[in-house]
Amino acid sequence: MTYISNDIVNEIRSRTDIIEVVSRYVNLTKKGKNYIGVCPFHDDHSPSMSVSPEKQIFTCFSCGTSGNVFNFVANFEHISFIQAVMLLGEKLGYNLSNSNALIKKDDYFEIYNLANKFYQNSLNTSLGKNAIDYLKQRNIDKETIKKFGIGLSVQKLSLTDYLKNKKYDINKLMDIGLTNDNGNDIFINRIMFPIYDLSGNTIAFSGRIYNTKDTSKYVNTKETEKFKKGKILYNYHIAKEHLKKNDTVIIVEGQMDVIRASTIGINNVVATMGTAITKEHKAIIKNMTKRVILCFDGDAAGEKATTSAIAMLEDTDLDIKIVRLPNNMDPDEYILKEGKSGFCSQLDAAYNLIDYKMELLKKNKDFTDIKDISSFVSSAIKELVNEKDSIIIELNLKKIATSFGIDYNTILERYNEYKKDKKEVKKKLDVKKSYNRYSQAERNLIYYMLKDVTVLKMVERKVGYFPTKSIRELSNEIIYYFHKYGIINIADFISYISNKEELYDPLMDIIAMNIKDDFQIKEIEDYILVINEYHKEMKVRNLNQKLKEEKDPLKQAEISLEIMKIRGVKDDDTRN
Ligand code: UTP
Ligand code: MN
Repeated sequence: MTYISNDIVNEIRSRTDIIEVVSRYVNLTKKGKNYIGVCPFHDDHSPSMSVSPEKQIFTCFSCGTSGNVFNFVANFEHISFIQAVMLLGEKLGYNLSNSNALIKKDDYFEIYNLANKFYQNSLNTSLGKNAIDYLKQRNIDKETIKKFGIGLSVQKLSLTDYLKNKKYDINKLMDIGLTNDNGNDIFINRIMFPIYDLSGNTIAFSGRIYNTKDTSKYVNTKETEKFKKGKILYNYHIAKEHLKKNDTVIIVEGQMDVIRASTIGINNVVATMGTAITKEHKAIIKNMTKRVILCFDGDAAGEKATTSAIAMLEDTDLDIKIVRLPNNMDPDEYILKEGKSGFCSQLDAAYNLIDYKMELLKKNKDFTDIKDISSFVSSAIKELVNEKDSIIIELNLKKIATSFGIDYNTILERYNEYKKDKKEVKKKLDVKKSYNRYSQAERNLIYYMLKDVTVLKMVERKVGYFPTKSIRELSNEIIYYFHKYGIINIADFISYISNKEELYDPLMDIIAMNIKDDFQIKEIEDYILVINEYHKEMKVRNLNQKLKEEKDPLKQAEISLEIMKIRGVKDDDTRN
């Protein structure tokens, strides 16, 4: 277990300037008291990240990522908090590896790289003959095998033994998904497709059966610290190199689809590997390009995947096109059958988003039936309410009017009605999202407690109990920290709670709220009042409930008296 004392962490932090460190990674410009720059933690186009030299913290007002200098380096370099402390400490001359703060060298990439080579070699041994035949029969040539690092796992050639001989710890091999609990290889007799991370390191495998029967066609490496299916797109590192400016990325389901497309010279293809597109995928795609073509399998599952991908991607400024292949074919099969020209015609004729949605709505409708027409028209207009481009809206409304012989004004009227409904729903949601009075007060108080000891002491003395659990725990921890160290500032407190997610995440939310820095004591008193009033209200509400249920007039009187008492007393006396 790595451990560096809090004093040392704070010392390193106070001797490190966050502006200087962040500037090593991101261009910063001075703006007022702070510095601003493009946030490296989301797909930022305008500078949304602000770094405060005074508070020694950074915040992105767009994605909410915040923290002190250690959090910045940890996030950017994909290392742990403690590793970031060591990295910055060593720059200042601290010899932390001699203390008990040893970083265990991470050999994940090294092992996976060896495993990748091992499987590729196995394919070329005499034991790989059947597998080579299988690949040949699927029209995958030597060059393609090499390009995608395709290999083979065979029972007789144990990867686990090979790696054990190289002195790698068996527990590590189990941990990273190459060896099972009995000490044997996880992958046996499968064609191995290495999976690379965004930088091109091997981090996992997908193994396909070839001449045996097994319940699962593909087996993938379990989720590990480095391999999360929802954060990886197969072939990303190659596709990215092939994207010219304004180019399109084609998204498919399977690795075989990617590999087949590459055989006809189409390399800007990534695969979701059979999972639904996640928020993380979305961020990766947005960073790659502005244009995507969804080209999932032609079957019903592919249609479902298309719908869910659209739902995930449509709130971006990505230009989304859709290809639906005929006869349930997947891109691999389609390219084998129709060749490069056939596939390219499909790409050229891809639906734009709104046309695709209209096509979907038409499915299974009988347009000789008035009921079906009416339901189609309604849902088509509803769909257009989400469209931003006014020309596309008008053209489509007109098209609907003429196709079904409905008066254009009737259609337009309906459109305006739906548009109004949508705005009202949005308003309601917006109101719900904004913090109500007492949660705003709670969060402001936490922020100012970290800025000014006077506030901290006022809270300690006057606030009985914060209504929100995470805020209550933060407040307790802040007070505890202050009593222990006799001093407090936001940057060091962040270090202190960095390994406590249940405190760290709520505090980051508070920082990202962009609370103004200067305050008056009168405001603090108001916030405290709001919170204590909230408690009074809750108590009164409970008593009122009791009163309603109480039958005994004597007891009723007692409760009424209690309510009056709470309502009458000064807030200073309500602490519990
Ligand atoms: P498909 O079943 O469409 O495979 O699954 P495919 O691309 O047509 O593969 P071939 O042509 O039969 O070899 C799409 C993707 O879903 C994942 C794999 O990543 C596959 O490429 N998958 C599929 C699994 O993880 N496990 C499975 O059992 C099946
Ligand atoms: Mn297939």
